[in-house]
Amino acid sequence: MDADEIRRAFLGFLAERGHTVIPRARLTPENDPTTLFTGSGMQPLLPYLLGADHPAGRRLADSQTCLRVQDIEEVGDNRHTTFFEMLGSWSLGDYFKDVQIPQFWTFLTDKVGLDPDRLYVSCFSGDPAHGIPKDEETAAIWQGLFEAAGLTAQQVDVGTDEHASQVGTGDARIVFYGASNWWTRAGGAEHMPVGEPGGPDSEVFYLFPHVQHDPAYGARCHPNCDCGRFIELGNSVFMEYRRTETGFEPLPRRNVDYGGGLERIAAAALDTSDVFRISLLRPIIEELESLSGRSYDDETHAMRVIADHLRGATFLAVDGVRPSNKAQGYVLRRLVRRAVRYAFALGLEENFFPAIIGVVAGIYTADYPEVAEHTDDVITVLATEEHAFRRTLRKGLAQLHGHLHEGATGADLFVLYDTYGFPVELSTEEASRVGIALSPTWRADFDEQMAAQRARSRARRPSGRTGTTQPTDPAG
Ligand code: ALA
Repeated sequence: MDADEIRRAFLGFLAERGHTVIPRARLTPENDPTTLFTGSGMQPLLPYLLGADHPAGRRLADSQTCLRVQDIEEVGDNRHTTFFEMLGSWSLGDYFKDVQIPQFWTFLTDKVGLDPDRLYVSCFSGDPAHGIPKDEETAAIWQGLFEAAGLTAQQVDVGTDEHASQVGTGDARIVFYGASNWWTRAGGAEHMPVGEPGGPDSEVFYLFPHVQHDPAYGARCHPNCDCGRFIELGNSVFMEYRRTETGFEPLPRRNVDYGGGLERIAAAALDTSDVFRISLLRPIIEELESLSGRSYDDETHAMRVIADHLRGATFLAVDGVRPSNKAQGYVLRRLVRRAVRYAFALGLEENFFPAIIGVVAGIYTADYPEVAEHTDDVITVLATEEHAFRRTLRKGLAQLHGHLHEGATGADLFVLYDTYGFPVELSTEEASRVGIALSPTWRADFDEQMAAQRARSRARRPSGRTGTTQPTDPAG
């Protein structure tokens, strides 16, 4: 199945099970001042998770376009993207985990056809301080599903178990974690604002046995390890608590909030750990290969960043965001600038946005007709921004070349970064290419100015935001 087929199969599968399929919400939330972007499928449903009646009923499903800029620096590895689609299903006080977990299992193994032997799951190990028990019920449901598929499943607690050394291998398929398996929009339980809903969650991972564990991420690989050997496909939040001044109280109804990463499930279906090879991203990479004359294998990082950022920028612009110096417009500008910079490193110096945006539009038009409707406008808006930033880049380069004789300092590189949006690597590469000497202390000087700037912008940032905060880095 390709990604379109998985999206459609998911929505059809849930519809057959009594769910109303609702349209995606825009990337820019309408009535939520706490966050800049829709970063999960549950976000537009917050009032209903808190107890209000949804007009479409108690069982809902959708594919929600999401943007998470917190992950922007991670983009370039095999699985992080700022923009993604979250396949969502909700029980608003209807069924609970005994129905939802087998439902998700059936979708992954029967519909998508994933190998059950490569599935690993995590469960919440409990929070005694707040009176929230270890989620043994969820573990037992998973255990039954693995066993019914003829697999042995061992339950392991990462924190305390003597078998922890087996985590991430063989039969140790059901792993208990603490804080990472408590889901809220705001991060850990201690960060939840009063009134915010949350609960224990159970995550499902797919093992890519041929990916070598990277010890830089810890001595041992385990499902939550960041080395890329396991990829999280989705999670089910058993949203039954609300934060109070002193702890937690039960919500009026017990909900299930499920979210699965369409791109990651599609990668698993293709048996690749590289999400950029799936049908929603591969055509963008191919267009970049053809425009630049370079190959994805040689330019993996840059091509991933450009593909991700221009896909996200296209959807932001489709949803009405325009480049500017504040809030959502600022993030759009940042995505565009980063894409231009990485394109510059690929030798793509001509305006290339229209070709890429055309490819993005072609990918999404069938399932999201609003993309086709706005493509011409989006091209005009983003190509104008591309053009303007290229001019700035050229000025910055000219300024750098002005240091040919006296050499450049960390302060010079910071000006290029701060004023022209030059990443320091671009400046140092260019300096070495044209023979500009760098002062011996350039790195420390640059870092010092950067830290000072971060401290200034932290002081300026409004407090009380959760989720997607406005980035503080003007250049990207
Ligand atoms: N709300 C959950 C998530 O975003 C499903 O991961």
